Amino acid sequence: MTEVVKQVVRTLEVELGERSYPIYIGPGLRHQAELYRRHIPGRQVMVVTNETVAPLYLQDVMEALDGFQVASVVLPDGERFKTLEVWQEIIDTLLQQRFNRQCTLLALGGGVVGDMTGFAAACYQRGVPFLQLPTTLLAQVDSSVGGKTGVNHPLGKNMIGAFYQPRCVIGDTETLNTLDQRQLAAGVGEVIKYGLIDDPEFFAWMEQNMDGLLQRDPAALVYVVERSCRDKARVVAADEKESGQRALLNLGHTFGHAIETGMGYGEWLHGEAVAAGICMAADLSRRLGWLSAGEQGRVRALVQRAGLPVAPPHELGRKRFLELMAVDKKVLAGKIRLVLPKGLGHSVVTDAFDPQILHDMLDEYRTS
Ligand code: NAD
Ligand code: GLY
Repeated sequence: MTEVVKQVVRTLEVELGERSYPIYIGPGLRHQAELYRRHIPGRQVMVVTNETVAPLYLQDVMEALDGFQVASVVLPDGERFKTLEVWQEIIDTLLQQRFNRQCTLLALGGGVVGDMTGFAAACYQRGVPFLQLPTTLLAQVDSSVGGKTGVNHPLGKNMIGAFYQPRCVIGDTETLNTLDQRQLAAGVGEVIKYGLIDDPEFFAWMEQNMDGLLQRDPAALVYVVERSCRDKARVVAADEKESGQRALLNLGHTFGHAIETGMGYGEWLHGEAVAAGICMAADLSRRLGWLSAGEQGRVRALVQRAGLPVAPPHELGRKRFLELMAVDKKVLAGKIRLVLPKGLGHSVVTDAFDPQILHDMLDEYRTS
């Protein structure tokens, strides 16, 4: 087993000076005791997971952590539990179990667990190390990398949080075999994003290989996780705290966050909302003359082939959409800024569009 894993493990580096860290990618990595040891400085480890992931993988991770003083906290499952109240359970457990400043947190789960654990690590005793062991496609290709951590507020997604980088990311692609198909597809939404931002070759690869990816071909999974992490790591290394180009990683997210908040957290999966948001961004770009109808059609077709929504829900009309979009972190001086594709494989962050064109588009979704 160990030999096989060694042959296929890929390692990338997120280059952030003294906060640099590796991303390991390959099947079966959760069993690799050595990987954890390399990045856990003290004796105490708190594994944070949820009630769905715990029965699947907690035992494996506990065994790999043999020799450490390990405890775990099992959170309720779901985006609607990504709240300050549930987050506090992590802090309560750390205090009740007398975890000290030399402890390490380990996030075992999807993006919800990863974001909440990272935020707990950022705050506990003013900051303790943490490791990411992402178990959804979305978390492996996106949320475990780059140090955005936090929780939702009823008025806006991810409105409470911190930039706080993990010590390493262990992306065990074998764990993706237990994901249900809807969750797998949601992860593909974030993957399509990378192609559109600045990786046209990756977009074309997806057009050729979507079926294999959805059937979880092991090589396709490793390829997609590695290429997505490479694309993301490059952007994060250039702009860790999102003062500029990192905002590109939010392609589809201004619309998507509005859908998630407006519909009630968990109703639409994050990746589904982002996928619809990507299609809306492509639609707006086509209306602005920045994408041809053919290019917009390719975006829509790829999203559809992944089994993802290509339009927002009818419930949200123009007025509600604009209210929700006004809470977005990219809003500057009251003006909505959006990430929009200009050609396939190149996107920009911009407020240089006539708002009426956006309003007309939102009105059409309500009635179409
Ligand atoms: P999630 O964490 O809710 O996981 C999806 C579902 O899959 C959950 O029910 C979970 O219990 C289950 N699950 C996890 N791993 C499993 C496995 N291996 N087998 C079976 N079931 C499994 O959702 P997600 O899509 O992973 O993450 C979405 C979250 O990530 C959102 O809150 C979003 O805001 C956040 N996010 C953060 C960043 C970032 O940069 N920090 C980027 C993108 C998204
Ligand atoms: N998912 C957006 C970012 O990490 O910046």
